[in-house]
Amino acid sequence: MPRRVEIIAPATIANLGPGFDIVGMCLEEPFDTIHAELTESAGVVIEAITGDGGKLSLDPVKNTAGVAASYALNQLGITNAGVKLTLHKGLPLASGLGSSAASAAGGAAAVNALFNSPLRRVQLLDAALEGEASVSGRHADNVAPALLGGIVFVGGLTADKLAPLPTPNGLVLALVTPDVAVPTVEARAVLPKQVPLSEMVKQTAAVAKLISALYRNDLEALGQAVEADCIIEPARRHLMPGLLEVREAARARGAFGTTISGAGPTLCSICDSVATAQRVIDGVALIYARMGLNAVTRITRPSIEGVKVKVIE
Ligand code: HSE
Repeated sequence: MPRRVEIIAPATIANLGPGFDIVGMCLEEPFDTIHAELTESAGVVIEAITGDGGKLSLDPVKNTAGVAASYALNQLGITNAGVKLTLHKGLPLASGLGSSAASAAGGAAAVNALFNSPLRRVQLLDAALEGEASVSGRHADNVAPALLGGIVFVGGLTADKLAPLPTPNGLVLALVTPDVAVPTVEARAVLPKQVPLSEMVKQTAAVAKLISALYRNDLEALGQAVEADCIIEPARRHLMPGLLEVREAARARGAFGTTISGAGPTLCSICDSVATAQRVIDGVALIYARMGLNAVTRITRPSIEGVKVKVIE
């Protein structure tokens, strides 16, 4: 049995525009790194967290990785041993890149790996979801792609409701994260409780376009589809500084479309090359500089792998 493992827990983009709570994509970067070690005492200990600016709790019942790891230990029926976790946050918090989901998926994967991986990835969904729910609501469109990789259709909150979607070749994402925190719970609180039938029809069409674009490997249609959310984005737009300006600048520089990543404030532009993504990033950096807002830019691609496990010892 391994004694120490290292987990790479990836960022994810939930929703992909109109697919609110039902579509999510795993990214190559950024990611968290979790070191996990077997302990003789039962339960979960979080030894240290770096990269979070001191904001996350070391108390395992208040930390998504801790909650997910405890759930996984129970799932495996382990009572005579435990795990010690050290979290290195590479993901910004409350930024729309699935930080809580990465920690949750990583915590669950760490426990599984330390006990010889008896569970398949998909069987870690419940544990990861429990961790996610403890801080940002019970939705699986970040934890599912973080565990499984690629783009995932989340038809419900149980493993049998997940289905992989095609990941388009050549897809490059230009990401910009302005320096404002948008906690998911707050971004969910502004959403309408009911929508008119006419909007429901438009939103359904947008989701159909999104799925069709993925199956046809059509990046241009994908870019149009991610901009076609007529329910969630309008309700959240005021929380996303620069969204419309960034969208316009990204398009002028060759992106096919720009959407809110998850609950924001990160914005994600669909590009077909690193060169285009670089032009987009250069343009949006100017927009935030003019607004007097710090912003971190990144160029990344989808990851088909999901959470990665390396045995150290
Ligand atoms: N689907 C969720 C939301 C994702 O948009 O609220 C949060 O990361």
